[in-house]
Amino acid sequence: MIKFTIITLFQEAIEPYLKTSMMWKAVDKGLAEFDFVNLRDFGLGPHKSVDDTPYGGGDGMLLRCEPVFAAIESVKEKDPSAKVILPTPVGEIWTQEKARMFASGLGALRSAAARELAPAAHGDGPDGRGPKPDANIHYIILCPHYEGYDERILSLVDYKISLGKYVLTGGELPALIIIDSVVRLIPGVLGGEQSAEIESFSDGDNLEYPQYTKPADFRGMKVPDILLSGNHGEIAKWRADHSGKVKNN
Ligand code: ADE
Repeated sequence: MIKFTIITLFQEAIEPYLKTSMMWKAVDKGLAEFDFVNLRDFGLGPHKSVDDTPYGGGDGMLLRCEPVFAAIESVKEKDPSAKVILPTPVGEIWTQEKARMFASGLGALRSAAARELAPAAHGDGPDGRGPKPDANIHYIILCPHYEGYDERILSLVDYKISLGKYVLTGGELPALIIIDSVVRLIPGVLGGEQSAEIESFSDGDNLEYPQYTKPADFRGMKVPDILLSGNHGEIAKWRADHSGKVKNN
């Protein structure tokens, strides 16, 4: 069971996706759990303020420490083992390898006492399958909004994750991408147990081979004969020959 507690000001932007398709099935099967904490509940003053202007001047507003610390502490009070993920453009780039590591619970190792393990956990990482999943894994995803966050918030963070070299308005989309890519790797979430193994990115940088379903001829576009041949050896060879490579740019 993997639990995600999402700390956000915009639950309504995230929740519909988690109630759809595979994410919902994962919950239904008892393999995943999603919980929300409204950062506004921890806001200051009558307006429940969660942000303020930066010291030293500059544009925009920053998330303040008090509401964020209180929100995270409220979750950690109930589960001190929970690890905090912060989506941020200055984090480590999210990859399939990291998704696999987080799904196996290895990510949970990178806590105060285990920081030396971090380079290994984030470098060569586990093999395709990774170790046996931990029984209970709990990640807190803190979704920043506004222009950024007070740097002292990082003292609570176990993993800073970037979804790529571009800037989004908040952590809600990154949170969904992280959750989706981890949850689909939990054994039992996808239909065929092999699905997560054989598809794109599972084998290092190899992309999935082209696939076809019925009809064999659609408007003159024909399925390659070899795939209709029933010759499994030749089909495997064709697929290997037609797997793409990730372009890293
Ligand atoms: N927040 C804003 N931009 C982001 C990015 N590229 N990755 C993760 N979090 C972000």
